[in-house]
Amino acid sequence: MTCCSDNKDKNGKGTRDKVVLAYSGGLDTSVAIHWLQETYDVDVIAIAINVGQPPSNDDIVTRALRNGAIKSDFINATEEFVSDYVWPSLKANALYQNVYPLSTAIARPLIAKKLVEVAKAEGAKYIAHGCTAKGNDQVRFDVGIVSQDPNLKIIAPMREWVTTREKEIEYAKEHGIEIIVKKESPYSRDENLWGSSCECGILEDPWAEPPADVWENTVDPEKAPNEPEYIEIEFEQGIPVALNGERMDGVQLIEKLDRVAGAHGVGRIDHVEDRLMGIKSRETYECPAAVTLIKAHQALEGMTLPRDTIEYKRGIEQKYCQLVYDGLWFGGLMEPLQAFIDKTQEFVSGTVRVKLYKGSATVVGRKSPYSMYDEGLSTYAEGDVFDHKSATGFIYVWGLPGRTAAKSHGKK
Ligand code: ARG
Repeated sequence: MTCCSDNKDKNGKGTRDKVVLAYSGGLDTSVAIHWLQETYDVDVIAIAINVGQPPSNDDIVTRALRNGAIKSDFINATEEFVSDYVWPSLKANALYQNVYPLSTAIARPLIAKKLVEVAKAEGAKYIAHGCTAKGNDQVRFDVGIVSQDPNLKIIAPMREWVTTREKEIEYAKEHGIEIIVKKESPYSRDENLWGSSCECGILEDPWAEPPADVWENTVDPEKAPNEPEYIEIEFEQGIPVALNGERMDGVQLIEKLDRVAGAHGVGRIDHVEDRLMGIKSRETYECPAAVTLIKAHQALEGMTLPRDTIEYKRGIEQKYCQLVYDGLWFGGLMEPLQAFIDKTQEFVSGTVRVKLYKGSATVVGRKSPYSMYDEGLSTYAEGDVFDHKSATGFIYVWGLPGRTAAKSHGKK
């Protein structure tokens, strides 16, 4: 891998240990560049990774260089994000605690992977990230990084340097750090292609209905169009390949579906969830494409998979969600679980029709060349091919353990 834009500066470049910083251009990671140099006497390589977060209109790479990083880069990882993280999780119908599509969580191992790649290419000894001490993301980064390279050391400035927004702005002024101070928001947000997360502020009261300003990417269902919209999603082996008959790549498909479903208020989630650190937290999510695709995918599985596969897979899916949520992407149980899930998708191909209407995405039709739905077997009308006489024998055998138990235990 080649990295990055170079800084021709005075920081004793090349003589100090290097740290690769997961950099967003935000306040925390901008001041972290200086803080890392000052506290650890290291050269900082600031790496931003595009997983589909909203683009910022300032050039964060050159700003990192002006703020003292010896190198900086913006790595576009959206395609890899979809093919290697989002689609595998869709095949698993991944909804943590049956509710949250893991949109933040699923991007973390990819970011960790990219940071490790840069650290290797640059011979860096450290990786730094801006996570705090109470969240899941620090675990996902730290564990993700050491599971790929146990020799790397992790620095989390926000875990060590317990600070406030005001103090950080003050620190930036003091050291001439260029920051873009956004309008202060009560919320903490994270966003990528698979969805956005929002916590803090009034959301910390789990009884309070999320106010309108929490939602940024979806239309209020009450204000959504009065006419429903029907869409068709085509899947091949569990992966969406076309929307309304038009084939497109994964990034495009998710972006388009986000707009279409989001315009109908689909994908708003309000959840009190269990963090890995043992803390319950209240968070809202907006994931129009994820919610719609998971529903459609489940419906197609319902038509193409045998009952015991579906039921067994539900248990696997829960475990899968837990591993993703808990930051255990690399090594361990993940690969064998994913292998099982992939194998189940062999026949999950076909088209699902979904009705979008005032906050809901409802599956209203499905078809597949591998459908196990047999109208001749299921019909109560003309054309029935089921052998009705076979039912009596089947029920005799099926009920035999119950009959035997009743005879024997019923004596008591
Ligand atoms: N609770 C979610 C998770 O751990 C999302 C966290 C996102 N962070 C945020 N600042 N909203 O996966």
